[in-house]
Amino acid sequence: MDLHPPRGTVDFIPPRSGALRELVAGAHRVAELFGFAYVDTPGFEQTELFARTSGESSDVVRKEMYTFEDRGGRMLTLRPEGTAPIVRAYLANRNELPVPFKAYFVGPMWRYGRPQTGRSREFRQFDVEIIGVAEPSADIEVMACGERYLSDLGLEGCHLEVNSIGDQTCRPQYRQMLIEYLEGQAPRLTDEHRERFRDNPLRVLDCKDPACREVSEDAPKMVDHLCDPCRVHFDGVLAGLEEEGIKHQLVPTLVRGLDYYTRTAFEWAGDALPPGQASLGGGGRYDGLAELLGGPPTPGVGFALGLEPRILLALESEGRLPSFRGVDCFVVTVGAALAPRGRDLLRTLRGAGVSADTSFGERPLKAQLRMADRAGARFALIVGEHEAEAGTVTVRRMADGHQETVPSTDVATWISQQA
Ligand code: HAM
Repeated sequence: MDLHPPRGTVDFIPPRSGALRELVAGAHRVAELFGFAYVDTPGFEQTELFARTSGESSDVVRKEMYTFEDRGGRMLTLRPEGTAPIVRAYLANRNELPVPFKAYFVGPMWRYGRPQTGRSREFRQFDVEIIGVAEPSADIEVMACGERYLSDLGLEGCHLEVNSIGDQTCRPQYRQMLIEYLEGQAPRLTDEHRERFRDNPLRVLDCKDPACREVSEDAPKMVDHLCDPCRVHFDGVLAGLEEEGIKHQLVPTLVRGLDYYTRTAFEWAGDALPPGQASLGGGGRYDGLAELLGGPPTPGVGFALGLEPRILLALESEGRLPSFRGVDCFVVTVGAALAPRGRDLLRTLRGAGVSADTSFGERPLKAQLRMADRAGARFALIVGEHEAEAGTVTVRRMADGHQETVPSTDVATWISQQA
């Protein structure tokens, strides 16, 4: 039996699993700080949900969906992205939900791509959505939430890019203009785009190939052809970003890989990852998505950050991986006779909410201290004969070996008070 996990997936083990755990905990913390409610939708959905919303010409639908027929003959797909499922769940439960509905989710997504640095077949996203608000203030709220998350991590090599890709009123005309421009440039495009640009010309703007990029630079820009309502909305977004003090760059060639977007599109680009995988996260408005699912007109805006592998890799490259947080203390007993004392202490500590671990069975003192170190314990609590008689514990700070004697009855409080 091959013990490796399937291609494009990874096993998370300590200490990296601890770093991932911190990224996830940070996402919950920041989402709650901004008043988002946690939602959790199924890991698989009817294939139609993604086929209708992501777009027939998107990479996700054309080549990346994990689709299968279940034993009941239903066509199902492992969730490649979180927005369509959250909007579906909102529409299905809208009588019970507030408007606006501020939702977030943290969890795995699956896309069948070619695994490489920053691209895997199973990855984890922090997904934030505001459903039911058309004003630019909602766009600002989600971007501020993502910014806060990234700044709490201390990630430096990352910047926010924004654009407007118009709506159903102004985009068709722009699309036609772009097709006409690309027709004249076709020989310079990659084979894939030369064949396909008429289906979705905006995708060419997203191509990382140097020749396509040159073509994109000179192409007509959507921001120069917005209809009045889209222009007013985008001006509101840009003004809001200024007001919030959120640094951003206007990138007129920025488009997104999924088809449901309208108006605002944005991405956090990471400096440390290869060009095709540099997006640490992205999002935008999707004012027509609910209608694609048969719901009433319902505006929405959100983003997803790729916690893993991308943000994890970006943090690693800056030496800022959140460190594995081990237990507060490791109880060390000297000699088999003191084991019951050790277990008492363990129960008292855990009872007081202090995390604590110990060895199984008798081990020499040195071996137990090594175990304490591996468990990431901040303190080793040593109970020897002398301590047992005196009703004390020797508290050893693992970082520098500094030791103090503390009465057993006070030890839980003492540990809790250490910053
Ligand atoms: P997306 O741009 O397709 O947007 O994905 C968001 C992020 O997920 C990417 O920036 C990247 O960090 C990560 N990601 C995507 N595919 C992979 C992969 N194969 N391997 C590793 N990381 C990956 C969405 O998914 C939208 N649902 C975002 C959104 C929310 N828009 C509005 N609300």
